[in-house]
Amino acid sequence: MELRTVASTASTNADMLALASQGAGEGLWLRAVEQTAGRGRLGRAWVSPPGNLYASTIVRLRLGDPGPATLALVASVALDETLRAYGAEPWIKWPNDLYIGDAKLTGILLERSGDAVVVGIGVNLAHHPEGLDRAVTSLAGRGLGAPDPELFLRDLADAFARWLGVWRGGLEPVRRRWLERAHPVGTALSVRLPEQAPIEGLFDGLDSEGALRLRLASGAVQVIHAGDVFLI
Ligand code: BTN
Repeated sequence: MELRTVASTASTNADMLALASQGAGEGLWLRAVEQTAGRGRLGRAWVSPPGNLYASTIVRLRLGDPGPATLALVASVALDETLRAYGAEPWIKWPNDLYIGDAKLTGILLERSGDAVVVGIGVNLAHHPEGLDRAVTSLAGRGLGAPDPELFLRDLADAFARWLGVWRGGLEPVRRRWLERAHPVGTALSVRLPEQAPIEGLFDGLDSEGALRLRLASGAVQVIHAGDVFLI
């Protein structure tokens, strides 16, 4: 395992994609003290001043690996486990956001290039952005201290390596842990897809690719691969 730190960069995901194209292998983590153009899911920005964790790693897909999108589950269960060691009790919102109460604590962004999947993780340790259209929080904001991002990353990298090993042996244990930590099956959800009216339904678990199964009022199940999910 190798943990590299840079003081400032645009986006550790962008850097890791570049490193991937130069042949970087698994086990490498890149952390930035701050990002000037942090990327979020669905084209959003991830505001990244010093104090929080901004880090990315790479997974090289192998023959027989579970579907690459299910690395979102690996990252979220590893992050959940790490946060619990710091006293937090988060829950997971599909696909890979960790919340404390009704406020988002972490973000995970997967980006793929060929056989490389870059897994980028942002954790609000010391502070969280203000003035967003949704509730957000940080460990410090919840009275759980502000861990040193470097130390937190060491623990996270260990947990990620362990869960990646589990995943390579089969998705089921990862999926089981994810489901234990997520909103229960039957939870009413509203899903926003780009340029469409929101779809409402009941959480019906995950498919084999980690996609969201949403049971509609008609009884039909709609499978959702990307979207913004709200509990209603
Ligand atoms: C989300 O929108 O919830 C995902 C946010 C992912 C942010 C992390 S911070 C480290 C890595 N580099 C980026 O540019 N984005 C991810």
